[in-house]
Amino acid sequence: MEQILNPLQTSLGLLTMNSPVTVASGTFALENLDFIDQEHLGAYVCKTITRYPKKGNPPPRLYETEAGLLNSIGLQNPGLDKFIEEELPTLKEKLTVPLIVSFSGSSFAEFAQMLEALEKQEGIAGYELNVSCPNVENEGITFGIDPDVVYKLCALLSPLTNRELIVKLTPNVTDIGVIAKAAEDGGATAISLINTIWGMAIDYRNGRSMLKKGIGGYSGIGIKPLALALTYRAAQAIKIPLIAMGGIYNWQDALEFFWAGASMIALGTANFIDPKAVDKIYDGLASFCQKKQVPLKEIVGKVNGLTG
Ligand SMILES: Cc1cc2nc3c(=O)[nH]c(=O)nc-3n(C[C@H](O)[C@H](O)[C@H](O)COP(=O)(O)O)c2cc1C
Repeated sequence: MEQILNPLQTSLGLLTMNSPVTVASGTFALENLDFIDQEHLGAYVCKTITRYPKKGNPPPRLYETEAGLLNSIGLQNPGLDKFIEEELPTLKEKLTVPLIVSFSGSSFAEFAQMLEALEKQEGIAGYELNVSCPNVENEGITFGIDPDVVYKLCALLSPLTNRELIVKLTPNVTDIGVIAKAAEDGGATAISLINTIWGMAIDYRNGRSMLKKGIGGYSGIGIKPLALALTYRAAQAIKIPLIAMGGIYNWQDALEFFWAGASMIALGTANFIDPKAVDKIYDGLASFCQKKQVPLKEIVGKVNGLTG
């Protein structure tokens, strides 16, 4: 059988990558890179940073359910300045793939201020605007549920950069297509989805919430059907590329998302279960494409299947 060349090559705006597999913000520490082959990673998305340091929510803030994970980390991060001074140099040194910086602001002005500071730094290929974190007050999700706000935020930020501007959407909305389209109209170059959905677990014996904060963000296997449906919905509404995530544990899961319209996929909770998930999923996708003699990008959005 003839080998097809670079079957997994993918592009995101101006970036061309050898792999459509990336990692979901907040789930893949830099040390995790030691377990995988960076050739198998399309890009690296760092943990969301905010303007000022955040110590996050009090523990317990992680709980494993029978079908996925609950977290209430609360965007723990060192803040923009320390990120630029200390983390960015390490990231640049260690990474051989494009770096996408995830960040979140508490106002339009703060988003713009953060973007301007990051624009001055080299070695950043793009940004992921986190307008969807369910675990913090007064920011995150409040931005991502209103199409008008998403449009205005993107319209404000897109003229300030030539780098990739990805907007990460929350699933906790009525119509994801409307929000995705608002981001596209505002100048986003890609959409990523989904962030976690609301979730909770209670100790049945004593009524105590398993997370100190009570409600948290639910991720992993249990959210896959929802993530897939929202990927499909959003992909129908936009022309820009879509990075999908939500319960992808293996290459078969990943393929479902490509059929539904994703150009790239990101692994989140899967990294906690198997630190080599990136490699395994890359290999599985590559053999599928070789066996079928089809480059991956040809199946993107062809949800009813290939002919022949
Ligand atoms: C422990 C943990 C921390 C997370 N931190 C962030 C974060 O900082 N920023 C963000 O945009 N999403 C964050 N997420 C959400 C993931 O990036 C991803 O959108 C979500 O988990 C769904 O994908 P999954 O089912 O593959 O985990 C976090 C998820 C987990 C489980």
